[in-house]
Amino acid sequence: MNAANCCRGHRWWSPPRAPSASDSPSPARRSGTRSSWWATANWNRRCGSYSGRTGCGWRSWTGPAPRGGWQAARLARLRELLGGLPDAYWPDQYNNPDNTSGYASLAAELAAQLDHLDVLVCSVGTGGHSAGIIGPLRRHWPALRLIGVDSTGSTIFGQPARPRLMRGLGSSIHPRNVAYDAFDEVHWLGPAEAVDGCRRLARGSFVSGGWSTGAVARVAAWAARVHSGAVVATVFPDGPHRYLGTVYDDDFTTAHGVDPDAAATRPVQIPHPCAAEATGWARCTRVTDPLETAPGGTS
Ligand SMILES: Cc1ncc(COP(=O)(O)O)c(C=O)c1O
Repeated sequence: MNAANCCRGHRWWSPPRAPSASDSPSPARRSGTRSSWWATANWNRRCGSYSGRTGCGWRSWTGPAPRGGWQAARLARLRELLGGLPDAYWPDQYNNPDNTSGYASLAAELAAQLDHLDVLVCSVGTGGHSAGIIGPLRRHWPALRLIGVDSTGSTIFGQPARPRLMRGLGSSIHPRNVAYDAFDEVHWLGPAEAVDGCRRLARGSFVSGGWSTGAVARVAAWAARVHSGAVVATVFPDGPHRYLGTVYDDDFTTAHGVDPDAAATRPVQIPHPCAAEATGWARCTRVTDPLETAPGGTS
């Protein structure tokens, strides 16, 4: 894990990304079978190029599911494939408790290296790392506040599903690894805030990253301003290398109507996730599990 001091003496934590499929030969390659990749239409060109160079097969499909969007469509197809492959294994990062428990070592590392912690800021996609580190850290610091950072247009914390430009944080489903009870507040940010956060980090320090890093950096800096004197830590899920053609590319941001100069500098407060749609940086101190919210949105 790399740590850098910035944000008025607060620490940014930048762990290496979790192991990915590309770190070791795929089961298909180990067993000598030909692997297949599945891609949504917007990945067709890149996947076509990948398969042309690697000999890996690929398939695509074109439509989002009526409920749950592209993510639900991908998962439906995945389940279909799994049904026909008796020996197949899907780690299921959304619901598998091993995702959460895999972060015990990160929690231990943070606890060992920090004298004290008041606020922890985590992006939320599957919910894995926030759920995995908050429990052990609260055993050290019971009053520790947890701030979740989600994308506008994400359903995780009860907002309506919309097309999302950012990757990593956010979802169009409701992963069961999200520890709703553990969060004190949630922030939704748009791409402009995330791009602005990434570029500020790149300009002002030796560490930066992608969408989720930019977003948590903005929220952590905000938290450090609002909670004067508090020790604020955040997790940068990855580095900038995968985002050179998006977050750091003016042609990309302009083409997608993202103007980092117009990024909000503070959140708008909403009383309940169902009370208003967050179209830019918004904040809510009422965190509920949308699947447990009573009809009428009163829980
Ligand atoms: C780049 C990036 N950002 C944010 C997240 C969200 O983290 P989590 O899934 O632990 O909630 C992930 C998770 O895979 C990620 O890869």
